[in-house]
Amino acid sequence: MSCYRIMGGRPLEGRLTVQGAKNSVLPILSASLLAPGRSVIENCPDLSDVSAALDILSLLGCRVDRQEDTVTVDASVLRRFDIPERLMREMRSSVIFLGALLARMGAAELSYPGGCELGPRPIDLHLAALRALGAEIREEQGCLRCRGGSHLHGRELCLSIPSVGATENAMLAACGCPGLTTIVGAAREPEIEDLQAFLRSMGAQVSGAGSSVVYIRGGLPLHPGHCRVMGDRIVAATYLCAAGAAGGRVEVTGVNPEHLTAVLSCLQEAGCEIRTGPDWAVVESTAPLRGISPVRTAPYPGFPTDAQAILMAALAGGRGTTMFVENIFDSRYRHVDELRRMGADIRASGRVAVVTGVGRLHGAPVRGTDLRGGAALVVAGLGAEGETLVSGLGHIQRGYDGLERALAALGADIQRVD
Ligand code: UD1
Repeated sequence: MSCYRIMGGRPLEGRLTVQGAKNSVLPILSASLLAPGRSVIENCPDLSDVSAALDILSLLGCRVDRQEDTVTVDASVLRRFDIPERLMREMRSSVIFLGALLARMGAAELSYPGGCELGPRPIDLHLAALRALGAEIREEQGCLRCRGGSHLHGRELCLSIPSVGATENAMLAACGCPGLTTIVGAAREPEIEDLQAFLRSMGAQVSGAGSSVVYIRGGLPLHPGHCRVMGDRIVAATYLCAAGAAGGRVEVTGVNPEHLTAVLSCLQEAGCEIRTGPDWAVVESTAPLRGISPVRTAPYPGFPTDAQAILMAALAGGRGTTMFVENIFDSRYRHVDELRRMGADIRASGRVAVVTGVGRLHGAPVRGTDLRGGAALVVAGLGAEGETLVSGLGHIQRGYDGLERALAALGADIQRVD
């Protein structure tokens, strides 16, 4: 079993370029299915979720090539429109292929993505949107069979929750629906804007991404696209919170600081000094972090649920009390028990967790049980006294490209041991 061995307490110092965003590249890879020909995607991070998405594209018939961080997907010939359960299991967000397959092939079959480590992960909004666009969807023994073809047509869709995945799936499907589709109540996450930019590079008429109403004029002929994936705001937040936990000064580049506003304002309130420029942000921390006003996760531009565990880990080794309210997912406090092993004082009940900084955490063997929870344990270990062993690296590799290398370059004492 592999784990990270971290000797905590060394301040972090330096600059790093943030990888491309996982949550951006996955829908973009799916979008590459929409047109025959060779799409080019730059700044593609090397992650197990990306490998799983590329495996799915290959299986569908695409020719996929990767040269360093540039991926080309040649979707000239698609052989099939079904994704076997084995590949669906590897990447839970593979449901994002549904909309693109419907638009390109007029049909899609995949197994139900089911629950995941964050609790039940329903896809009712995805299915309702696709049905409203004219798709016929049958759910049989854990398998989703979708048919569209000539029945697909644009129309107004209303999302009752601004779901990121449902917005993306609806945008992809709408590209294949003649007429105008309007998505009301769309998610406003920056990754949706990145998807819009890629779709436009394919010739699609899409506008409004970043606001809560997205317009797609579908049924137009598309050609292969080209994009450079935006910097990963959650990965950036992880390195900045690590600076808060361990002390020191870290600069992240290749990321839009506006995407980090909610996280940066928390770090500032906790006592860090913050500076930002057009595509960079610096966090400097010279004293233990202070408790801050309640942190409530919310859809963008609110505080991201994906940064909740990471900020909590940093504050647990500071001083003062902070309340967290997790409003997006039901089971997103699984890192709390592990942080307690490191001496953290955290009481969690339902959606609320109250963290009282203990001054300094101590190292311990801990296990990450989900992607961001695992990254949070690394952040905690960097600020803790003594040795922390973080296992469950499979989860972390889903979203972090070269985490230990980047942290070591900032001066952290971290090694991967097998
Ligand atoms: C995406 C991100 C994930 C992030 C999340 C919230 C990707 C690959 N993943 O996940 O990292 O944590 O946004 O920012 O981009 N919901 C329903 N029915 C649905 C769909 C969602 O009830 O059909 C609910 C979910 O249970 C959750 C909320 O809507 O409570 C938001 O989920 P959603 O925005 O869809 O998250 P994902 O797209 O799965």
